[in-house]
Amino acid sequence: MPADFAARVVRWQKAHGRHALPWQQTRDPYRVWLSEVMLQQTQVQTVIGYYQRFLQRFPDVQALAGASLDEVMGLWAGLGYYSRARNLHQCAICIVAQHGGEFPASAAGLQTLPGVGASTAAAIAALCYGQREAILDANVKRVLTRYLGFAGDMASSTQQQLLLEQARALLPQRNLRPQMLRYTQGLMDLGATVCLPRSPDCAVCPLGATCVARSQGRQRDYPVKSRSLRRSTESIWMLWMQRPDGALWLRRRPSPGVWANLYCFPWFDSRERLVANLPARLRVRLRDEPAFSHTLTHKDLYLHPLRLLTGSRTIAQLEGAWFSADACSRLGMPAPVRRLLQDGGNQPKEVEG
Ligand code: ADE
Repeated sequence: MPADFAARVVRWQKAHGRHALPWQQTRDPYRVWLSEVMLQQTQVQTVIGYYQRFLQRFPDVQALAGASLDEVMGLWAGLGYYSRARNLHQCAICIVAQHGGEFPASAAGLQTLPGVGASTAAAIAALCYGQREAILDANVKRVLTRYLGFAGDMASSTQQQLLLEQARALLPQRNLRPQMLRYTQGLMDLGATVCLPRSPDCAVCPLGATCVARSQGRQRDYPVKSRSLRRSTESIWMLWMQRPDGALWLRRRPSPGVWANLYCFPWFDSRERLVANLPARLRVRLRDEPAFSHTLTHKDLYLHPLRLLTGSRTIAQLEGAWFSADACSRLGMPAPVRRLLQDGGNQPKEVEG
C-alpha cells in the first residue's frame, strides 16, 4: 500500500501536475534553493517575477555572495518576511566562503545553512539529487494528515515528528532520481491545486479512494492545530518628508525588528513624539495623510503618515538622510511604503524654503 501511494502521486503528477514553473526547468541547487526560500511563505504567482529578476541580477551563488545586502533587500522588497533575504545573502556568502561555491549534497548538510530548515533542505535534496527525503510544508501536511487521518496536533513538535516518520514510510522505494522529483512536486501540486484547505476536489484526487478524511467526510478537520498565532497591534506615525526635487528623508530600519534593514520614513510611536523631533518652523507645515493598516505575520500595523514638503537641507535632530528619487527607486523599502509613494508621492504641491 505505501508503494502504491507513491506510484499514484507520481502518475498523477505526470498527467495533471504543474510542469511549467520556472524552477522546475533545472536541478541546479542554487536555483532550486532560491525558489524554495521564496516559496516558504509566498504564493507561486507572486514568486515567479521575483525569481526571474533575482536570477537575472544574480545568475549564480558567487554573484549573490558578492552583492551588497542593500541590493539584495532592494530586489526582495515586496516579498515580505525579510529575514529570508538576510539569510539568503548570508547563505550565499557561506556557500562561497566555506563550501567552495558548491551546495552540500545531503539534506543534513543543507540544514546547516542559514535560513534552510528541515523541509527546505529535504525539498532541495529530493528535487536536485533524488534523495529519499520527505518534505512537510503546509500544503503537504494537509494532504498527508487527511490521507492518513492523522489527528495529532501540528502545534506539537512530537506530533510533527510522528507525521514525518509516516511521510518517510510513504516515499518511493526505487528509481529515485526521477521518482523523488515527481513525487515531491506531485505532493506539493496536490496540496496547491486539489487538496485545498476549504474545498478539496476529492473526485479528481488520485488518493481519494483510500483517503481516511474523505471516507469520514471530515476533510476540513485536518490538519489539527490547537494553538493559533497570538497577534498584536502597533500604531506608528511616519514622517513622510519630501523635497521639491522628489528626494525623500529616510532611515534604515534597525535590526532586529519590523522591516529590519529596509529604508523607511522615520517612525514614532505617537504623533506627539514625531512633532517633538521637528524644529518649530517645520511643525506647522505637517499634513495628516489617511492612515492605513498593514498585516505582518504576528502583528497588525496601523500606519499614520504625516507629510511635510520642505526645501530644508538637513534636520539636525532627526536620524536619517536625503535620498534622491532615483536612489529611492533602487533601495529596499517596505512594500506598503513604496505603494504609498506610488499612489501619492509624485507631485509635491506646497513647499517651504
Ligand atoms: N512550494 C514550495 N516548493 C514549491 C515548488 N517547488 N513548486 C511549487 N510550490 C512550491
